[in-house]
Amino acid sequence: MSDREIGKEARSVEYDRVDVSVLVIGAGAAGARAAIELTERGVDDVLVIGKRSHGDAHTTWARGGINGALGTHDPEDSPAIHAADTLNEGHFLNHPAKVETVTEQMPDRLRELDEWGMEYSRTDDGRIDQRFFGAQSFRRTAFAGDHTGESMLDALVNRARELSVPYRENVMITRLVSDGDRAYGAVGFDMDTGEYVLFNAGQIVLAAGGHAAVYNRHTSRDDENNGDGAALAHDAGASLMDMEFVQFHPTGMAVDEDDSEWSPWSGRLVTEAVRGEGGRLFNADGERFMERYSPDQMELDARDVVARAIAREVAEGRGTENGGVYLDISHRDATFIGERLPRMYERFSELGVDMAAEPVEVAPTAHYGMGGVAVDSDGETDIDDLFAIGETMAGVHGANRLGGNSLAETVAFGVVAGERIAERAAGPGDIPDELLADVVEPHFRDLTETAGRSGEHDVETVIAELRQLMWDHAGILRDESALREGLAALDDLREKAERVDVGPVASESFEFAIDLGFMLTVAEAIFRGALERTESRGAHYRTDHPETDPDWRVNVYFDAADIGGMIPRTDSIPEPSERVQAALDEGHELDYHQLE
Ligand code: FUM
Repeated sequence: MSDREIGKEARSVEYDRVDVSVLVIGAGAAGARAAIELTERGVDDVLVIGKRSHGDAHTTWARGGINGALGTHDPEDSPAIHAADTLNEGHFLNHPAKVETVTEQMPDRLRELDEWGMEYSRTDDGRIDQRFFGAQSFRRTAFAGDHTGESMLDALVNRARELSVPYRENVMITRLVSDGDRAYGAVGFDMDTGEYVLFNAGQIVLAAGGHAAVYNRHTSRDDENNGDGAALAHDAGASLMDMEFVQFHPTGMAVDEDDSEWSPWSGRLVTEAVRGEGGRLFNADGERFMERYSPDQMELDARDVVARAIAREVAEGRGTENGGVYLDISHRDATFIGERLPRMYERFSELGVDMAAEPVEVAPTAHYGMGGVAVDSDGETDIDDLFAIGETMAGVHGANRLGGNSLAETVAFGVVAGERIAERAAGPGDIPDELLADVVEPHFRDLTETAGRSGEHDVETVIAELRQLMWDHAGILRDESALREGLAALDDLREKAERVDVGPVASESFEFAIDLGFMLTVAEAIFRGALERTESRGAHYRTDHPETDPDWRVNVYFDAADIGGMIPRTDSIPEPSERVQAALDEGHELDYHQLE
C-alpha cells in the first residue's frame, strides 16, 4: 500500500506530500539553470526549492566574474587554453572531460546570459568586457562590475519566470530518500510554517552549494555553504571526492574584531577583481612582497600561492595590525574604481575608507570547496537518479580552482544535467513502502524529537567551536598531528551536538542544529582526506609533506559502502584530450606585467 493510499491518518507524524518529476534542491545559479534547461526541453513538472526567498541565493555574493573564452580582447584565447589553465591550476587532479564540458560551452553560455538580460560591463563598442583574473593566460573573465553573481542570478531568475518554472521558497531539506542504489525523493520542512514535507521525485538535482562556511573566516553567508549538499548525498549513499581541497581566497577583509562596525565584515570577500584591475599587495614594511614569491605572475598568481604568501608574511611578523597585509588600488582614480569595482568601493566608503586614496587590509579566508559529491560526466552521482551540480559536485577544479570558474561550472553543468534528466524524465515515480517505513517516518520522528529539545549547549556556540577547530587544524597549512587532534576533537563536538538547545521546527536554532549535523559530516571528510594525502598540492599544503608527489595524482574518495566509517580509497585520473594536451604543451601563462 502506498503512502498516498494509507493517507495521513496512518502516519506516525503529519507531513505534506508533493509529487514532481524533477526536484531541484537549491535555487542559485546551478539550480536555476538546470530547471531552465529541463523546462525548455519540455519537462513541465519541475520544482525548484530554496532555503531563502526567490532570487536570494548565495550566487548573489559572487563578485569578480565568470570565465569563458570569448576573446573580447585576446582573440588567441580558446576553450582548449581555458581548459589547460584550469588543469594547470587544479594541479591535474581535475577530471579533464568535466573541465572541457565547462570550457567548450562557456562562450555560448555567456552569450545566452546576455540574451537573457545579464547586465555585463561592456567595451566601448558594446561587446562583453573581459578582465584579468588570477593564473589565466588571457583576459577571459566576463563581469558585471563587481556584482557579477547578482546580475547573473537576476538574468536566470527572469528567464525561469518567463518559462513559469515553479519555485518554492523557504524549504530546508534534511534527508534524501534513498535505498543506497536509487534516490526517490527528499524530506524536509517549511521554514515559515514548520510543516514537514515529503517530496516524491523521479529525479533529484542537488544544487545546494558548498561547504566553505565550516571555517570561521569565510566568504559565505553564515547560514549558507555549510555542506548540506555533500552531507545529504553522502548520507544517501553517494561518494564524496577531493574533500581535502578547500580554497582559501587570499583577500578576505582583515578587520579589528573588537570594533562592532567592522567585525561583521571579518573574512568577507574583497574580490580578486581588485587585483585583476591592478591592485597591489604590500606588507606592513611597505614591501611589494609578491616580487619574492612570484616575480612573473605577482598578485595574480594562483590563489593558493598568494594566500600562502600572505599567511607567511603575517606569520613572520610583517603583517598589519589586524593580521593581514595591504591591498592597494589607490593608483587608479575614483571614477575607474567606481565603475569597475562599485560594490567594493561603496562598502569600504561606508566604513570610512576611500580605496582611491588608501589601501585596505586583507587576509586569507575560506572561500570554496573544490571537493564535493563524485559525479559522472552528466553530473549524476553513483546513486541512480540523484545528480549533483555546481559547488556541490567535485571534479572540475581539482586541487585549486581558477577564479571565475565557479559561476561557469554552475551554468555549464546545469545544462548537461538538465539535458540528461530530460531524456529520461518519466514522472514522479513512487517511493517504495519500505522506504516510507524505514527512512521517511523514522526521520520525521527524529526531527520531532529534536524540535523543542532542551539542552545544555547553545547551537551557535557549538558551530563557532567547530569553525574555529577547522581553521586551527585543517587550515591553509596542515600537518599530521594537527589533523589528528582536530579529528579527535570532532567526537566531543558530536556529543555536544546531541545536547544542543533547540527551538521549534520553524526556529533558527532548529535550522542551525540541522546545519551542525551537515557540517560535522563535511568536517570529518576534510580531516580524513587531508590526513590521507601525504603530499602538498594546490590548496592542500602539508608542512610535514611539503613536496608534490607524482604518485598522488589520484582522487581520494569516501565511498557509499563506507558510510559511518569514512574509509578513503583512491582512483586514477584520465589524461586530457589531444587538443587540451596541445594547449598545455604550448605553455601559455599569464604575464602579470601586461597590467602595468
Ligand atoms: O574574487 C572573486 O571575485 C571571486 C571569484 C570566484 O571565486 O570565482
